[in-house]
Amino acid sequence: MDFEKTGVPGLDEIFKGGIRKNSSIIVKGGPGTGKTILALQFIVEGAKRGQPGLFISAEEELDDFRLYAKSLGIDLEKYEKQKLIFLVKQPVTLKRLISISVPLELIRSKKVKRVVLDSLTLFKYGVENELGYRKEVLDLINNLREVLFLATAEETNNNLDDLECAAEDYLFDGIVRLTKVRDANVFERALYVSKMRGQDHLINIFPFIIKKNGIEVYPKEIPFTLVKKGFRK
Ligand SMILES: Nc1ncnc2c1ncn2[C@@H]1O[C@H](COP(=O)(O)OP(=O)(O)OP(=O)(O)O)[C@@H](O)[C@H]1O
Ligand SMILES: [Mg+2]
Repeated sequence: MDFEKTGVPGLDEIFKGGIRKNSSIIVKGGPGTGKTILALQFIVEGAKRGQPGLFISAEEELDDFRLYAKSLGIDLEKYEKQKLIFLVKQPVTLKRLISISVPLELIRSKKVKRVVLDSLTLFKYGVENELGYRKEVLDLINNLREVLFLATAEETNNNLDDLECAAEDYLFDGIVRLTKVRDANVFERALYVSKMRGQDHLINIFPFIIKKNGIEVYPKEIPFTLVKKGFRK
């Protein structure tokens, strides 16, 4: 099967090679769990492979975002000049919170192959009810069937044993959950793939770290081995 690489070292091993072409993935987690960084690595991976990418930021100003990427060693402006990455700020005002509009025309004209929406959560507030939200998200996914689509979303409850599933969990093809696990006073970042339609994947929880150049997942380790082995130095 034709797999696409996520750009996150170790994550493609959990997906047993990568993710299916044209699939839709949602990355969920609490604040500061690494959602935006993962999304950034995903879009840069496409650019490195010559696949133009569109990054839609719902809440962060683009200049702040460029600086954030730079702090992780990613020169977004270089890719923007090469027309390999397009950054768009989703204009959100109280009056215009109703629909998740993606610039489909830009996607077509620039032959965009990867799209990120960071994050989906804001749009929950723009619709009247759960049904309206579900329809919006489904339309969004269907509109982006020709590209590899990754959205991030906030997880309201970060306790892995007590997760509540939200409407979007049923609509995306795949879900990656980012969290932290705790052993006494020690926290460790951990991740798992809770579903990926149409392909086999590892189902366990794996530790990861955020280094100065982004996320690295350790698919051969179990949580807390990183602390013991000194990986986190
Ligand atoms: N240069 C860096 N080196 C190491 N860790 C970093 C670095 N930059 C950020 N981090 C870690 O990454 C976390 C933020 O990651 P990210 O912005 O991807 O989170 P997020 O899940 O998008 O959060 P939010 O929901 O608030 O947007 C920080 O809280 C910090 O722990
Ligand atoms: Mg973020």
